[in-house]
Amino acid sequence: MRPLYSTYISMKLVRFLRFLRRLKAAGSLRAIHLAMFPPKFVVNIPAMIALICLALLPRTVAAETEADAWLRYAPLDPTTAKQYEQLPGRVVVLGDSIVLKTADQELTSGIAKMTGRTLTAANEISGSVIILATFDQAKASIPGLHPREVLVGDGYWIARVKIHGSPCLLITGSSDRGVLYGVFELLSKIARGETVAHIDEVQRPAALIRWIDQWDNLDGSVERGYGGRSIFFDGGKVRDDLTRAGQYARLLASIGINTCTINNVNAAPGVLDDAFIAQVRRIADTFRPWGVRLSLSVDLSSPKVIGGLDTFDPVVPHVAEWWRKKVDEIYRQIPDFAGFVVKADSEGRSGPSAYGRTHSDAANVIARALNPHGGVVFYRAFVYNHHLDWHNPKNDRAKAAYDNFHPLDGKFDHNVIIQIKNGPIDFQVREPVSPLFGDLESTNKAIELQITQEYTGQQKQLCFLVPMWKEVLDFDMHVPGGEPSQVKDILSRTTVQRPLNGFVGVANVGLDENWMGSPLAMANLYGFGRLAWDPDLSAGKIVDEWTRLTFGNDPIVVQTISKLQLDSWPVYESYTGPLGAGTLTNITGNHYDPGPESSEENGWGQWHRADHQGIGMDRTIATGTAYIGQYPPAVQKMYDSLQACPDNLLLFFHHVPWTYVLHSGKTVIQHIYDSHYEGAERAHEFIARWQTLAGHVDEQRYKDILSRFEFQAGEAVKWRDVICAWAYRMSGIPDRDGRVGTIVNH
Ligand code: GCU
Repeated sequence: MRPLYSTYISMKLVRFLRFLRRLKAAGSLRAIHLAMFPPKFVVNIPAMIALICLALLPRTVAAETEADAWLRYAPLDPTTAKQYEQLPGRVVVLGDSIVLKTADQELTSGIAKMTGRTLTAANEISGSVIILATFDQAKASIPGLHPREVLVGDGYWIARVKIHGSPCLLITGSSDRGVLYGVFELLSKIARGETVAHIDEVQRPAALIRWIDQWDNLDGSVERGYGGRSIFFDGGKVRDDLTRAGQYARLLASIGINTCTINNVNAAPGVLDDAFIAQVRRIADTFRPWGVRLSLSVDLSSPKVIGGLDTFDPVVPHVAEWWRKKVDEIYRQIPDFAGFVVKADSEGRSGPSAYGRTHSDAANVIARALNPHGGVVFYRAFVYNHHLDWHNPKNDRAKAAYDNFHPLDGKFDHNVIIQIKNGPIDFQVREPVSPLFGDLESTNKAIELQITQEYTGQQKQLCFLVPMWKEVLDFDMHVPGGEPSQVKDILSRTTVQRPLNGFVGVANVGLDENWMGSPLAMANLYGFGRLAWDPDLSAGKIVDEWTRLTFGNDPIVVQTISKLQLDSWPVYESYTGPLGAGTLTNITGNHYDPGPESSEENGWGQWHRADHQGIGMDRTIATGTAYIGQYPPAVQKMYDSLQACPDNLLLFFHHVPWTYVLHSGKTVIQHIYDSHYEGAERAHEFIARWQTLAGHVDEQRYKDILSRFEFQAGEAVKWRDVICAWAYRMSGIPDRDGRVGTIVNH
């Protein structure tokens, strides 16, 4: 008897401990509710004891897999879940496209994970159902259906509708991709606890072009990637295992991205080898269920390097013929291929200048090969001479893009898009908007934003870039002619003549489980997609959504993380590059550490012109490089005048003495000292702000992010000391508060 009894007791104990562990892991109100009031409403004594024990345990939150990013579909608490019980329990899919199938699977699994309900499939619209269908398909089955607004592009309509007297939920789009986007939006609302009881929402993307560029090399490295090796390539081949590529496509689709360029803009000609295209096809197949199309970066010299021709001169007929045949071959393998990205005559890449040809000659020869298939060419405006003579005060890299492309306006074929970095230099912590956005009226334009934090802390430091992008997109170019001309208006303006404006983000995710090397950095990828869809969204709204989806709806978590994210760009700017002088990183080396000297005395042109008298690039029309003359008149007026120029861009446009007094009332030198000390202090405060979340965030992410903030605090002190010491050395002017030059607070 005894052994049996002890077995019984230990079984009970094991079960009890298992139960405790499960309860602790779930950590949700739902589990607690179930524990207290199991389905039969019998008071559950062991559960009550367990709850008491649980209360005595240190507070923890269930472990997370970071690969799901903002698509976790975490179980909702019972009260929140209850409001979605009225949603129909059956799904009808009208049509059999692969994207509609994905939409169906995503909906079913998302609802199951969040609410515990299993949706079942139905074959026809009868009774209360969820309907997934393109609008044309829906209209054929539901007479008299009218959305509130016309559906265009990849837009969608989610609505509660009555069909034959039964309450249904309709998710319809102008394309099947739109239906998938509608499903993601519905699931996002549910994850954030938003009501959908009376939903009637039409969404239309601001632009057709919503692309991601990856800078992956065929050997598996990723240029300016900080999240591990390539998800696409390894050892010169496409990876055998493309699971991550599929998961990436899912993430991209969930934020409305419809195309991904998979390889580095510094393109290996080998991507166009026929044998390689056959491999790339597998990636396109992996993307397709998510409505994501594939594009490739190509090298202009390919006809010569891999085609064996004696030239790659774009106006030579057999070069055009080579491109035509190559493109035909690609479309044979990848019928929904999106197009090419071209970096030419820039940073050592080959280009049309080799034959005295123009960028339009180069872009058009490729565009004509793609045109019969509906493909497009993104031709990058990032063209400049990196051997500029730094002795010449009139030389200015910032002028290069406009100088190269302004004369070509109207000369590009209709399927060429000029891809323009947000600023005239290169993704610095603050730059003015590129003047090309106010120009190139007769040319398609896309803005290129850098999601990967090349010059903004490389994901080792927190720098949420959406507020910076918002400033760019909201900037009014004051283009004469009366049309609204904020950058976002220009990029969203899709007319019949010019349907191809839009947004490109350089993401550079990798094989790391959390994609970008840091969980908080994923807010930049999410934010890029949301802005490309709707540039009117505020940074606050975007970060609120992202935080809820990534960390849950606990108010303290939402408030703390959102605020940390929103503060992070100003803080990063304040301890790195001051007043528009550039980020001041080591630009000839790692683009991460402070290195203000590296900007000068070389041909790269990221000059700040600091000397013993003053600092800043004189880009004025009268005495400087005349870069300011590239803007429309109203913008010229603002930047050309010392009085009107905003402090935060002063040193980008003007060379001033260190003692020049800013609008803030401080001298330039004192501002540099103060902002670097304040910035480092605020970075240090991030630690304590994060610590308020102990027990509210799962332990793994809590500890990971805590150690990142601790690291960042140290980096900020390093930046502060290097930049302040340099500014002191250059100016010879001591800090009013006696901090610079002494060794304290290290
Ligand atoms: C930056 C970056 C390069 C990249 C280039 C580009 O200069 O450092 O790695 O190739 O931009 O955008 O083409």
